Amino acid sequence: MKRVFSGVQPTGNIHLGNYLGALKQFVELQDDHECLYCIVDLHAITVPQDPKALREHILDVAALYLAVGIDPKKSIVFVQSDVSGHSELSWVLTCNSYTGELSRMTQFKDKSKNKESAPTGLFTYPVLMAADILLYDTDIVPVGNDQKQHIELCRDLAIRINGKYKDTFVVPDGRFLKAGARIMALDDPTKKMSKSAENIHSRISLLDEPSKIKKSIMKATTDSEGIIRYDVENKPGISNLLTIYSVLSGISIEDLEKKYEGKGYGDFKKDLVEVTVNALAPIKARYEEIRHSQELLDVLEEGAQKADAIAKKTMARVKENFGLGR
Ligand code: AQP
Repeated sequence: MKRVFSGVQPTGNIHLGNYLGALKQFVELQDDHECLYCIVDLHAITVPQDPKALREHILDVAALYLAVGIDPKKSIVFVQSDVSGHSELSWVLTCNSYTGELSRMTQFKDKSKNKESAPTGLFTYPVLMAADILLYDTDIVPVGNDQKQHIELCRDLAIRINGKYKDTFVVPDGRFLKAGARIMALDDPTKKMSKSAENIHSRISLLDEPSKIKKSIMKATTDSEGIIRYDVENKPGISNLLTIYSVLSGISIEDLEKKYEGKGYGDFKKDLVEVTVNALAPIKARYEEIRHSQELLDVLEEGAQKADAIAKKTMARVKENFGLGR
């Protein structure tokens, strides 16, 4: 079976972008792949975090993993900092990466924009992400397409090291969905939907109340043409809403365009509110059942042990091939 690895940062509640771009794939893959799904808390601290809130968010994301349908009997679910191999391998990869390639990463450029000085961790974030992936001999990495550049770097590092030392790493492939791979912010459809954006109406979190969902969708930026048509370049707002509607309902974008011919944005948005609230209700209900349960802590404990066993084997191979240790 091919091995799958992916992760989500516990930097806030998972939103529709994370869900449609990444988590939906996590669930699809678990029946016929060996899957590891991680809550990447070491990535979260590349920007300042409140320790209390971080701990809560780690458990929130873990509970949401299970609530969207990740089955711990099929997949390994764990917290990144529970497995020390991530940090160890990250250092080894850092020593094989170049400042030039890291300074070309668009996520680093975006997150460090307008800052006099950026944290080093933000700069080396993609190396830690490569370590996460290579640590488990991963074949497939299901992610949103904002991560394409980071996956490329991970592949480059694996190929570079395999060329320099004995074959050490499996070279992974990214897996990107056709629809949902990049859900845009509701208030500015030229930017991706993000957990840490200041405006809460820029995103829909999986745990939002129906009234909040309604407000965010009804306020969503569209255009003045008033025609429901998919055209990302000229009509990014309505195109983004059409994508969300289509992926959540299973109705194709073409059929949605026909359904709303002659109707206004108000009618379309009202229906999208209903579709979204209905899609998220069972996730929220399951989340509430497990968020404060012993079951959740047990899943993370067992996941950490299983992940650590795989990681230790990789680190032994890395040390051997690099001549590290006694
Ligand atoms: N807008 C998006 N559309 C589709 N997929 C997305 N992903 C993130 N945003 C979108 C995918 O979700 C997974 C987890 O992302 P992450 O939490 O590790 O980090 P991120 O990409 O930086 O996500 P956020 O929400 O923007 O977090 P913050 O604001 O903390 O930086 C990844 O597979 C990602 O591609």
